[in-house]
Amino acid sequence: MAQIGKDLDLAKSFLEKGELVGIPTETVYGLAGNALNSGAVASIFETKNRPSFDPLILHTSSLKRAEEFVSEFPEKLKILAEAYWPGPLTLLLPKKSIVPDLVTSGLDRVAVRVPNHSLTLELLENLEFPLAAPSANPFGYISPTRPEHVNSQLGDKIPYILDGGPCQVGLESTIVGLENGSPVVYRLGGLEVFEIEKLLGEVLIKDHSSSNPSAPGQLESHYSPRKPFVLGYLRTLIQEKTASGVNFGVLSFSETFSEVAKEKQIALSPNRNLPEAAQNLFAAMRKLDESPVDLILSELMPEIGLGRAINDRLKRAAAK
Ligand code: TXA
Ligand code: MG
Repeated sequence: MAQIGKDLDLAKSFLEKGELVGIPTETVYGLAGNALNSGAVASIFETKNRPSFDPLILHTSSLKRAEEFVSEFPEKLKILAEAYWPGPLTLLLPKKSIVPDLVTSGLDRVAVRVPNHSLTLELLENLEFPLAAPSANPFGYISPTRPEHVNSQLGDKIPYILDGGPCQVGLESTIVGLENGSPVVYRLGGLEVFEIEKLLGEVLIKDHSSSNPSAPGQLESHYSPRKPFVLGYLRTLIQEKTASGVNFGVLSFSETFSEVAKEKQIALSPNRNLPEAAQNLFAAMRKLDESPVDLILSELMPEIGLGRAINDRLKRAAAK
């Protein structure tokens, strides 16, 4: 198992040696390595069992430092960076050649973000290189929102996990780029689309799955529990599965069900607060997945604000 702690110097020394470290961000935990060291980047793909066609996000400490890695910073994207960095926003920008092709899987654009977590920002400020960091989960599985999640799945493969507590946002960053000068959202995430539209006007959302996704977070089946995951109207589903004698768990937005045992159900936000539901989503999915049920029943959230990004993850978890 990896060591878990808050020792920034230790984290730094592993990263300087080309080793990987679990890092906290406001969205989810990342599996970080020196983004300018192809060997470190290659071991990220290997450790996650991630296909090499799925590019990585480069994490840095400020807009100014981000400019070192991109050949151009279009005005519209700069407006977003100035407004929302540090924060759950990833921008696709034309890359400079110092960024290894392995980071971008050979694409011309590099994904860049400044994460909003004090420990990780301090780490990034003290490092001479940016960090490439995908979510710290095996490819296709639920993203980690606590250090223990990282340790239970990747702990035997990495030396250290920086403990930044539970993630405050709980959903991955929103990915934005330009196409013919117009903003496009490639992955719904922790920054609401409304916040982007407020500054740039209407944006196109291209988060549908395809065989050649421009952000493989778009792959239809992703963020998936191992247990079958079924979405629908919970009261009906519960009746049906009870009648057929299935051992199921329930993941709801706010309701609890008296006919289901307490330990087999999780309400994401009893007060129907979407940011709170987002914060709890992945930990709850994991908990039910690790509990002795054979099936997880869930429901969609209201399709507003962060509910859109939550529903995106729920649908992908249900797609098999
Ligand atoms: O919140 C987050 O973004 C977290 C934390 C750790 O920062 N990271 C994260 O990384 O979610 P990952 O690797 O799990 O998802 C990154 C997504 C992938 O779907 C990838 O395909 C897309 O970003 N992506 C990265 N570089 C890209 C590029 N150059 N063009 C298009 N999509 C890109
Ligand atoms: Mg991921």
